[in-house]
Amino acid sequence: MTQNVRELTEEGVEARLAEVLGQERFAPPVTFADDAEITDPGIRARAAADPVGYWEGEARKLRWSTPWTTALNDAEAPFYRWFEGGRINISDNCLDRHVEAGLGDRVAYHWHGEEGEERDVTYAELLDRTARFAGALRALGVREGDVVGIYLPMIPEVVVAMLACTRIGAIHNVVFGGFSAGSVAERMEISDAKVLVTVDGSRRKGRTMPVKPEVDSHMGHLAGLEKVVVVRHAGIDVDMTDGRDVWFDEALDAADPVDPVPMDAEAPLFILYSSGSTAKPKGIQHTTGGYLTAITTTHRQAFDLKPDEDVFFCTADVGWVTGHSYIVYGPLANATTSVMYEGAPDYPHKGIWWELVERRKVTKLYTAPTAIRACMKWGVEHVAPHDLSSLKLLGSVGEPINPKAWLWYWHVIGGERCPVIDTWWQTETGAIVVTSLPGIDDAKPGSAGHPLPGFEVDVRDAETGDVVPEGEGLLAIPRPWPSMLRTLYGDPDRYVSTYWERFGKETYFVGDSARVDADGYVWVIGRVDDVINVSGHRLSTAEVESAIVAHPQVAEAAVVARADDLTGQAIIAYVTVQQGGDPCDALADEINGEIAERIGKLARPKRIVFTQDLPKTRSGKIMRRLLRDIAEDRDLGDTTTLADPGVVATLQEQYRAGA
Ligand code: WTA
Repeated sequence: MTQNVRELTEEGVEARLAEVLGQERFAPPVTFADDAEITDPGIRARAAADPVGYWEGEARKLRWSTPWTTALNDAEAPFYRWFEGGRINISDNCLDRHVEAGLGDRVAYHWHGEEGEERDVTYAELLDRTARFAGALRALGVREGDVVGIYLPMIPEVVVAMLACTRIGAIHNVVFGGFSAGSVAERMEISDAKVLVTVDGSRRKGRTMPVKPEVDSHMGHLAGLEKVVVVRHAGIDVDMTDGRDVWFDEALDAADPVDPVPMDAEAPLFILYSSGSTAKPKGIQHTTGGYLTAITTTHRQAFDLKPDEDVFFCTADVGWVTGHSYIVYGPLANATTSVMYEGAPDYPHKGIWWELVERRKVTKLYTAPTAIRACMKWGVEHVAPHDLSSLKLLGSVGEPINPKAWLWYWHVIGGERCPVIDTWWQTETGAIVVTSLPGIDDAKPGSAGHPLPGFEVDVRDAETGDVVPEGEGLLAIPRPWPSMLRTLYGDPDRYVSTYWERFGKETYFVGDSARVDADGYVWVIGRVDDVINVSGHRLSTAEVESAIVAHPQVAEAAVVARADDLTGQAIIAYVTVQQGGDPCDALADEINGEIAERIGKLARPKRIVFTQDLPKTRSGKIMRRLLRDIAEDRDLGDTTTLADPGVVATLQEQYRAGA
């Protein structure tokens, strides 16, 4: 079927979605399947027969300076080691290897700025800048194993900074630009970062926000932070501290390029802080050889990659794992051309993504359900003017995708020609674990499908831990995989207790609940811990609560998630005030300010409900289940264990009145 996007109307789309809403399975479109790279239905079974051997075969496709001696060492489980004894450099595999093969002129990134700027960065240019920035980092005193913080917007320099770290064996710690400087300071301090690479200011929807001055006011006290490198981007005046601050471009111009250093396969590659069930973020640590292997393979398989033809557009931010794995490492290792967009999906207009798809002839698009739902809400009129016929495959990540959003994506964006892959994974898994092989598998809207070759997942009974062949339970990964996290930075005990106590040292506890159906399709339901997923961004209830109680007028706070049509989940905060405090709108504004300052604007609650009291058990534990029931307007069920059952009734009335 050929797509004529110009004929799209809301009524037409609604009618089509109504027609297909009940359809359970969607086979790969014939035109796609005929041309697919992976067509062998036996690929999963062969990998499952010898998973370690399978991963060795995949690892051999990379360039190693020393081959490994042991593919998987599980002697100290759950501290698994992959490709032990091997040496490899990531920037060598992402850049030098391709330039040597004659691909230097290939565009690595078509960068698009918020105000319409365009810049193409070729593999040769990226190599040159990376090699020189690696030299600059060395000149600033960075040595193998040192941590380098990166707090940058979506500009090519973020990739240069990351790859330069990998070139000399420094460990990068990228913090999403949407997090506050206060939260960056915390992450720099706990990771003992020696250098921070940041920017003068960032741009957001036509406004320029100072970044470097914020960094100065929050990070001046960090004794371990020796140097701050500043990228000129927003063109604003900033103070530079003598002896500590250097300009990125000047450091790069003055530096000698350095060659890639062969790194131990298990050398730490990066730390990425993510929310856990306490207020302290978890420093999820990945290592070199196994991560690169799984990222390269999954990027190729899930997106049915044709590196010579594809233009890949992942709309995530580099500050999240999706950006690390599928904007930077996977695409570069596979010599892919990507689109990198600096701005928001609705700036300068709500059709900007579709304009970019048309302009760059994007073939594979990877985004999140929240973004798809936002586009649905904005309406097909923003899509209709654009020719999206270059698209061949659509991907989704970050949260469960509801069938309606799936079908809209498939019909309106993909013109029913493109398979939609729903990819399930986590910061911890490093790479996509469950998704369809797009040329082979039927998709079921709402289900991520089956594990990719070499991976295994199952669902376990929450009480007994037994595998549930069909039905609902806790998602688990019963076998190590190359891109698994290796530890939590500086906290190996928390690594063991968070992931390897529930089912033992051989089976990874995911933290999601899921259902497996009669055909073995995995349907991820959501988190089972105190992690809230707002627009695909992981936030911890404890982290938000501790930011709220930091306000001097607040006595106690309890934060829960409520289902939300647009963002998947939304944060609802119940707050009690100190004696003499005034629970008013002004206080809510101040609390929001506190959260924005400590975590970032993305963590601000959708609603703050002031209450006299929080529902507690007789032993003083806050009953969050009841708070969730109130927020989702459900019957409250059993409240007899409460110290004061009257509290919830009042709270429920109050919530409804304000809803
Ligand atoms: C959720 C993002 C359903 C899940 C790559 C997981 C998903 C958490 C999906 C990880 C999906 C991610 N379907 N749920 N396709 N993808 N999740 O670490 O709860 O930011 O545990 O990694 O997001 O979030 P993280």
